[in-house]
Amino acid sequence: MKTSLDRLLGDGYDIRLRPQYGDEPLSVGMSIDVASIDSVSEVNMDYTLTLYFQQSWRDERLASGDPRLNLTLDNRVVDKIWVPDTYFVNDKKSFIHTVTRKNKMLRIQQDGTIFYGLRATTDLACMMNLKRYPMDEQNCTLEIESYGYTTDDIRFHMLGNHAVTGVDNLKLAQFKVTDSKLVIRNITFATGSYPRVSLSFRLKRNIGFFILQTYLPCSLMTILSWVSFWINHEATAARVALGITTVLTVTTISTNVRQSLPKIPDIKALDVYLICCFVFVFLALLEYAMVNCTYYGNMARMTKAKLRRKLTEALEVSATARGRCAVNLDTTGNLLNGLRHIATCPHADHVRHHVTRRRNVGFQTGAQIRTRGLHSSANGKRRSGQISRNSVGKKKRGYGSRARKSISNLKLPVIRDVSIIDKVARVAFPASFAIFNFVYWTYYIF
Ligand SMILES: *[C@@H]1O[C@H](CO)[C@@H](O)[C@H](O)[C@H]1NC(C)=O
Ligand SMILES: *[C@@H]1O[C@H](CO)[C@@H](O)[C@H](O)[C@H]1NC(C)=O
Ligand SMILES: *[C@@H]1O[C@H](CO)[C@@H](O)[C@H](O)[C@H]1NC(C)=O
Repeated sequence: MKTSLDRLLGDGYDIRLRPQYGDEPLSVGMSIDVASIDSVSEVNMDYTLTLYFQQSWRDERLASGDPRLNLTLDNRVVDKIWVPDTYFVNDKKSFIHTVTRKNKMLRIQQDGTIFYGLRATTDLACMMNLKRYPMDEQNCTLEIESYGYTTDDIRFHMLGNHAVTGVDNLKLAQFKVTDSKLVIRNITFATGSYPRVSLSFRLKRNIGFFILQTYLPCSLMTILSWVSFWINHEATAARVALGITTVLTVTTISTNVRQSLPKIPDIKALDVYLICCFVFVFLALLEYAMVNCTYYGNMARMTKAKLRRKLTEALEVSATARGRCAVNLDTTGNLLNGLRHIATCPHADHVRHHVTRRRNVGFQTGAQIRTRGLHSSANGKRRSGQISRNSVGKKKRGYGSRARKSISNLKLPVIRDVSIIDKVARVAFPASFAIFNFVYWTYYIF
């Protein structure tokens, strides 16, 4: 055995010359067994592939002619015989596994047919189009070419009909391999035409992860921002806090998403959704600003007009009744002066009664509260006099009635009118979001 190996790889064998040198191009057969696709990186635009790569050719110089002899040798012999200079064109970085020995094998059959196999892990460049991300499909390839030998020296063919195996068993976290294709062609460079084998995989992204991670939280945040339309517009703190929180949450979601993506200028499908969610949430906040603005603007105007009208009425009543305490409000126009006048007027009880009886409960402005304050303090004085005159037993009842009175004075804010803007928003926001979703999903899925 030793002698036959020595004879084969002895002085007669020149490693520098390819088999069939100066003759027909050498035909190199290939077979690929894909062990795994380990990761696909959008940021680096590459994917990692582990494969068993086998090449086979015939080197007549190594034919032993002995039918019992099928030599299986390890990687140390590989350095002593001629092997094709194939390389992976789109490879960025790769290595041959070395545990426990270098994962290479060589088998020489009696007729000189050589099988040369190795196991390698390689990072392969894969240019991705992310416009439809995450509803995208990527076409990633493995390109095998001869580095130095042109088509005049070498040709590639596949070993048998099932030269590519393992593609059906590939399991990826984020993708599904839907298709794979193998093409052998000639690539022409300035230095000549080179044979090339291209194995391409069609990778379809699983959207489930993104539904849970991005789409659902984003939609829920948008829906949450609509809760604001059902909250009383006087609850400024609640509505502003809700608006700001939803805006910030959507911002956080989109920041997280961007971290796993390259900084490409293309607008991705996911970006469209995130931007729209942001716009919806932002508009919900602006809607409150609008409600607030119109509401308080209207209120101030209405209150002023109402108060002026009432005061004029009251003073007219008072003046006709007693001929005193008349103030011409139309000329001064100062409501506060008018109120002070009522408070100081000795015959103002009647007037106050008139004002408070017909007071509209809905709007509680500073001016009105002030009137009421003056009113109740006057009442209080009167009542305290009563209490001092009354017996101690009656005191309790007096306090009770006062408490009851002060409670009735402390009117809770009554929801009288929901802003028309809120009413419109309750319908318009969900409707437009539903339309947006419909258009979005039909566009990107079909
Ligand atoms: C050597 O390998 C060839 C091809 O696989 C096979 O046909 C032959 O029977 C083998 N010879 C021996 C002695 O095992
Ligand atoms: C990938 O793209 C190449 C070049 O456009 C094409 O020839 C090949 O068929 C594609 N692969 C698949 C699996 O569709
Ligand atoms: C590549 O070029 C060789 C030699 O010019 C030719 O025989 C062969 O058919 C070509 N292969 C393809 C796939 O075009």
